[in-house]
Amino acid sequence: MAPENPSGGGSIKSVLHETRVFPPPADFAKDAGIKSLDEYQALWDRAKDDPEAFWAEQAASLDWFQTWDRVLDWNPPFAQWFVGGKLNASYNCVDRHCKGPDRNKAALIFEGEPGDRRVLRYQDLLREVSKFANVLKGLGVKKGDVVALYLPMIPELVIAALACARIGAPHTVVFGGFSAEALSGRIQDCKAKVLVTADGGWRRGKVVPLKVNADGAAALCPTLKSVVVYKRTGHDVDWTPGRDHWWHELEANVSADCPAEPLDSEHPLFILYTSGSTGKPKGILHTTGGYLLQASLSTKWVFDLKPDDTYWCTADVGWVTGHSYLTYGPLAQGATCVMYEGAPNWPDEARFWKIIEDYRVSILYTAPTAIRAFMKWGEQHPKKHDLSSLRLLGSVGEPINPEAWMWYHEVIGGGRCPIVDTWWQTETGAIMISPLPGATPTIPGSATRPLPGIIPAIVTKDGVPVGENEGGFLVITRPWPSMLRTIFGDDERYKAQYWSDVPGNYFTGDGARRDEHGNYWILGRVDDVLNVAGHRLSTMEIESALVSHAAVAEAAVVGKPDEIKGQGISCFVTLESHHAPSEKLRQELRAHVAKEIGALARPDEIHFTESLPKTRSGKIMRRLLRDVAAGVESTGDTSTLEDVGVLALLRRGGQQEE
Ligand code: WTA
Repeated sequence: MAPENPSGGGSIKSVLHETRVFPPPADFAKDAGIKSLDEYQALWDRAKDDPEAFWAEQAASLDWFQTWDRVLDWNPPFAQWFVGGKLNASYNCVDRHCKGPDRNKAALIFEGEPGDRRVLRYQDLLREVSKFANVLKGLGVKKGDVVALYLPMIPELVIAALACARIGAPHTVVFGGFSAEALSGRIQDCKAKVLVTADGGWRRGKVVPLKVNADGAAALCPTLKSVVVYKRTGHDVDWTPGRDHWWHELEANVSADCPAEPLDSEHPLFILYTSGSTGKPKGILHTTGGYLLQASLSTKWVFDLKPDDTYWCTADVGWVTGHSYLTYGPLAQGATCVMYEGAPNWPDEARFWKIIEDYRVSILYTAPTAIRAFMKWGEQHPKKHDLSSLRLLGSVGEPINPEAWMWYHEVIGGGRCPIVDTWWQTETGAIMISPLPGATPTIPGSATRPLPGIIPAIVTKDGVPVGENEGGFLVITRPWPSMLRTIFGDDERYKAQYWSDVPGNYFTGDGARRDEHGNYWILGRVDDVLNVAGHRLSTMEIESALVSHAAVAEAAVVGKPDEIKGQGISCFVTLESHHAPSEKLRQELRAHVAKEIGALARPDEIHFTESLPKTRSGKIMRRLLRDVAAGVESTGDTSTLEDVGVLALLRRGGQQEE
């Protein structure tokens, strides 16, 4: 992909300088798996010097039916890891914990939005996964057949995914908030024969009509033979006899014994669709051995997982975070995971904090977009609950603004919990850059250091490394086990998208800088970079400056064509509840950014708005805002947009001023 970057080969100017540093708390480091920066560095150096020996050593932490002959076959840009080895992801996540006392340990603690609760121990998971694997077999699903999962955030989503993995049927999870069109596009692309869905799920007290959407999608998908429907909400649904089957009816007649199939290390585990800024969604293909190894290992390292932790990753399994850090990583580690079905503000804005108090959650992993919403709702909500069980906090999905980081640290973490700001992508499969909480000093806004085995670089568009503290393109210089193997059905697009910009390197599409201490600062997607009068500015840094003003809840910054400067700076801003839009505030914000960053970053326009257009995983869709700012129609895929109404509102001029 040639980044649609306005300026030529130069570097990105980085203007945000953060000096607050938080060393790992001594009592945390004392008990941590990796206890010091020296220990981390030794591991990282060892991995750099002899990557194959390092990865082979680590891979011994999984259960293999047969060990590999070769650690890596690298035929750039196509990698195969642990060639000749055989294993099963479902076996590693379930069966192996059922051989000892952990069989009685809680694997999933589920809370539905209406307040219903279920706990599945590892041996319950084994029974349910085995039964559903037999259900799939009964529907004619064979090794290699793709199964689509379109479910609410209920245990059956994890069960179905693991059942697929058990029999070697790659799954494709489609987020339950997607429309019938988005679902059918994905089913058609991967030619799924079976779709697993539910009658509905709960979201803000209302039924999400999954079965209606599934019917709409199925009508457009000739390859689809069967639809399995889990009864969740219990409302009436349309039924197509012969095609549709109730989950509970199929399951009533199957055995609870289904041995896990020994699969090649490179057997496809799942396809997950992710949208690019242009073109149709890309089916990111992950395979078994390498993916599972890194998902599992990074969970252990980054979350410093202990046997008695209660771990809560708030991501939906429809996103990669829910795959790697709610399903495969923590379950491979034998962790106890909390899973919540619904919205964070139902029945009120304290729901998350109540869940943490009720289950004594010790590790919380969530996204900056959620943290900013919590800030906006106010600290009176977390203050109502006992959050003293928390010992570690995580963030993923976007750069976290230092302001949000500090709030997370102080209000949620009580000033005592390290924060791991984890940088990675659907394509990378697992966390790539992150603090290790017992070893790495953290700094608000920095993802800090690459994990052992990961060798990133920051380069210009021509592949030349940039200097210290200079921004550039973030690339990964060597293959890693959990890397995507290709874009499903489109090797050419895989090569063009990820391996052509900086030959020999994986191109992440993100900008970054590295400071004098070796810490990485992610500057956001490079196609979001501005070029103002010859200066390339990171939108993220201007956004952070805006958010640091007391009146601002959230900000999105985009470039707007400007005859003189090349690009002008256009800002979309939502306000904290007790502030109202006004011309006075607008001028104040412009001055504030100029003061924080410098006059060259002074916004040309500030639009006040009630909300920002976001993907369903919470990322601001800046390309749509660019179109609004430029006054042109939006083209390209909007299927990932959470609320289409937001766009219409913005085009009408956003929020009224006083
Ligand atoms: C962004 C989510 C800054 C980044 C796991 C990346 C981040 C894209 C961070 C991948 C972070 C993710 N700091 N930016 N800690 N984590 N990103 O595929 O732009 O949904 O390329 O994977 O999110 O998004 P994806």
